Amino acid sequence: MDIKVLDALLKPRSIAVIGASATPGKIGYTVVKNLIDSGYEGKVYPINPKSEEILGFKTYPSVLDVPGEVDMAVFTVPAKFVLDGIEECGKKGAKGLVIITSGFGEVGKTDLEQKMVEVAQQYGMGILGPNIVGVLSNSMKMNASFAPTLPLPGTGALVSQSGALLIAIDMATFTRRVGFDKLVSIGNMSDVEFADLVEWFDQDEDTASISLYIEGLKDGRRFIDMAQKTHKPIIALKSGVSAHGAAAAASHTGSLAGAAKIYGTAFEQAGVIQASTLDNLFDRSLALSLQPPMVGENLLIITNGGGVGVLATDAAERYGIPLKFAPEDVQQELKKYMPEFGSAKNPADLTGIAGADWYEESVRNSYMHPWVNGLTVLYCEVAITEPMDVAQSIKRAIDDSGITDKPITVSFVGGEKTETAMQWLVENGIPAYGDPDAAVNAMAALHEYANLKAKRAPLALAPNGDSKEKAMAIINKVRQDGRDVLTEIEAKKVFEAYHMPVPKCELAATAEEAVSMASAIGYPIVMKIVSPQILHKSDAGGVKVGIENNEECKAAFETIMANAKAYNANANLHGVVIQEMAPWGTEVILGSVNDPTFGPSIMFGLGGIFVEVMKDVTFRVAPINQSQALDMINEIKSAPILKGTRGESPKDIEALSATIANYARMIVDLKDEIDESDANPVIVYDEGDGVSVVDARIILHK
Ligand code: ACO
Repeated sequence: MDIKVLDALLKPRSIAVIGASATPGKIGYTVVKNLIDSGYEGKVYPINPKSEEILGFKTYPSVLDVPGEVDMAVFTVPAKFVLDGIEECGKKGAKGLVIITSGFGEVGKTDLEQKMVEVAQQYGMGILGPNIVGVLSNSMKMNASFAPTLPLPGTGALVSQSGALLIAIDMATFTRRVGFDKLVSIGNMSDVEFADLVEWFDQDEDTASISLYIEGLKDGRRFIDMAQKTHKPIIALKSGVSAHGAAAAASHTGSLAGAAKIYGTAFEQAGVIQASTLDNLFDRSLALSLQPPMVGENLLIITNGGGVGVLATDAAERYGIPLKFAPEDVQQELKKYMPEFGSAKNPADLTGIAGADWYEESVRNSYMHPWVNGLTVLYCEVAITEPMDVAQSIKRAIDDSGITDKPITVSFVGGEKTETAMQWLVENGIPAYGDPDAAVNAMAALHEYANLKAKRAPLALAPNGDSKEKAMAIINKVRQDGRDVLTEIEAKKVFEAYHMPVPKCELAATAEEAVSMASAIGYPIVMKIVSPQILHKSDAGGVKVGIENNEECKAAFETIMANAKAYNANANLHGVVIQEMAPWGTEVILGSVNDPTFGPSIMFGLGGIFVEVMKDVTFRVAPINQSQALDMINEIKSAPILKGTRGESPKDIEALSATIANYARMIVDLKDEIDESDANPVIVYDEGDGVSVVDARIILHK
């Protein structure tokens, strides 16, 4: 999206309100009033064919009558007038259109919405909305919306797909003490979408962090690409992640995929930090807008109360930054600021008799120690110290340390005075929370951000030999046959083209061919019927295993063909596949789906009950490299089985991760062809002995 369009939407020099009204209570009135009340310093042009003046501004019958330039136009006319208004804005040379009006795609009028975008694009304009509340910016002193007021000032930007929620968040910024510089309502996203705003906020000097309330993304891969490039933390609260949508999915992988899993993994790959609730979005946004990432694993907690210390310790473990005992020199230093009965381990308990001076010294000295990667300071209101004194001593200690690349979070538990002290801390750049759990969760967000930043890798593919040509030759033949499901042997040949190890296999049309192929492959062999109409081969008596010699092979061929004919007289029998008998090992499953938002995505898990009962699987949006494939292997709960446990030998994880990466490449390369696929099972042998894809299934797009 043209940067000028986003500049016009977020930093306009002049605003026309199309449908401005002199009638209090109408949205067209509220928007003009809000622009005045917020102190907007650019030009405001109310447009209304019937009025002369609105709230002291001269009114123009059409935007074309405005004497000066119009950067942005806010629409508050009913839907039927919007298209003509857009045309006029185009002629006037406006750049950004904020369409507050409802009654488009959300009520099925997608054609009208599409037409609007087409007209806007013809004139090089961009549309925010329709069906939105508007845009609010503290740094621009601009409330171009019908939300009551600008939010509490802060350094974050927040984009919401729900208009009502945006207004609620706006008001809650005051009670929650979490400020934002900008609030943007994005509505139907007919044109401007999350990725565009993320890109713009990344270069905006007034934005330190980007918070998103997402119901759905239009183009998931573009969002991932954009988020990966961003230098600022992005925190997303995604709604609609229940498994409901997954129930309709046809395939095994599809039913395991579910909306939540793919979104979760896509956000991780993009380096986006997730929030679990609205409260959590506020808490995490506050920390990420004020503090640097937590690089390293060592969190130190300083407290004056054992209870809150234990609560925070539990939270640290729950949120992935379990506490470790502080090193001896840190403990020796801390002991200077606590009584005999205090504890210098971690949490460091200064005890209830700690004054503001002990807080100051313990915070300063531990914060400066290289072992400490992040510091959470807890305080329970006690009679002997004033909360504000503690707050100020913490701030002084941090400032004196001169350190700016280590995070601190704070939790004060108590009454009104602690509230005031925490407000002061936030105003002075230190995120403070009324619950120790929230302070630790906020630190965990800073820790996640550091880790995700280090891990994010672009979704790009390096060029790759002739795999695609080989695979397409097989797929084209299947298409010519009028089919959209590959037979097992066809699927295996496609997998093989992408360097996935499959057992040696050939298709025999006659018993004689079967014998000669079996001799070439080497006994023992497995024989299976190949017919597009017979999916459950065993049920049809179409599988024979452990064939040892030519006689058995010939007899098996005849039996399999006869059984298949008896099972389905109309089935088209391609013949019998002669397959090398792979020795057994540990079964894993690989699968792929074409996610409607993120495109080709890959699943990995251990086979058998691990996938059937425990649903112990993990997902990635493809492609991925081998090290990301290794992460997938490591993150399933049953990973110890592959790594070797209780005397079991470790399995060939190197070969398995290479196979997963090749598979991910295949589903991206062939994304226009493959709808779903499975390699199930893949047998993993002992370290150094490789893997074997013993069954394969590919379903093409219809
Ligand atoms: N150019 C300029 N002004 C015009 C034009 C025109 N072509 N045509 C009409 N107007 C004037 C009208 O005369 C009126 O001014 P007046 O009060 O002086 O007569 C003004 O524009 C507004 O038109 P109305 O017909 O009075 O429309 P009304 O204000 O009732 O509704 C609105 C317009 C608010 C855009 C409505 O159609 C709508 O979409 N409402 C929902 C908006 C919304 O909620 N969006 C956010 C969704 S998210 C959430 O739920 C929070």
